[in-house]
Amino acid sequence: MDLGLQGKVAIVTGSSDGIGYATADALAQEGVRVVLCARREALLAEARDTIVKKTGAEVLAVPCDVQQLPDVQRLVTETMQRFGAIHILVNNAGSVPAMQFTDVDDAKWHQMLEGKLLSYIRVTREVVPHMRKARWGRIISIAGTAGWQPSNTAMAVGLSNAAVINWTKSMSLQYAADGILVTTVAPGSIETPRQVRAIGSGKQT
Ligand SMILES: NC(=O)c1ccc[n+]([C@@H]2O[C@H](COP(=O)([O-])OP(=O)(O)OC[C@H]3O[C@@H](n4cnc5c(N)ncnc54)[C@H](OP(=O)(O)O)[C@@H]3O)[C@@H](O)[C@H]2O)c1
Repeated sequence: MDLGLQGKVAIVTGSSDGIGYATADALAQEGVRVVLCARREALLAEARDTIVKKTGAEVLAVPCDVQQLPDVQRLVTETMQRFGAIHILVNNAGSVPAMQFTDVDDAKWHQMLEGKLLSYIRVTREVVPHMRKARWGRIISIAGTAGWQPSNTAMAVGLSNAAVINWTKSMSLQYAADGILVTTVAPGSIETPRQVRAIGSGKQT
């Protein structure tokens, strides 16, 4: 398929496995220059090498924890140094565990929101100035069906997904005039390594 993305530059967060890896791989097949990020360096390097071998695309792998602002700033700086632009951002890295309401104190609630919502906001905030300058950008945030379909265990991730959907709408209104389109994708359950582990432990989100 030709989606007209040849030569664009995309950052995909959390892209050494699961949905992020599949997204990065699909973009690379479209001729997109892809920037991978994740915390475990060995898995990240392996993902980069596999995608390069398979697609021949230019792929940059930046070890990065999206919960850490200096890491995120380095991710954006290294992308600009290597490719000179950021056309597409896919916010994907963010896991929030299943929970029982009374087990979660204030500090843990902050961690839960940090796990996905605040990380998406942090990465996006560092990327948007580059898109505004170029007057073109596409921001896609992976939410999930728990955003509008609460379950008994997916309370915190549902809250994050609902917030991501709401924030996305607001962002799309704020930045449409700059040529930046902001959207959400909300997958149902997908058999990724994390989801398989969660199902195995009875803590599916
Ligand atoms: N799988 C599903 O059924 C499903 C359904 C709906 C929505 N979603 C959403 O889709 C997204 C991806 O989910 P997933 O199932 O593919 O698995 P995931 O465990 O959320 O993502 C795995 C990838 O993210 C990286 N990652 C995790 N935390 C990170 C951090 N703090 N900084 C940078 N990278 C990080 C992991 O590498 P490292 O651990 O090495 O950092 C790995 O590359 C999540 O936002 C999830 O909520 C998933």
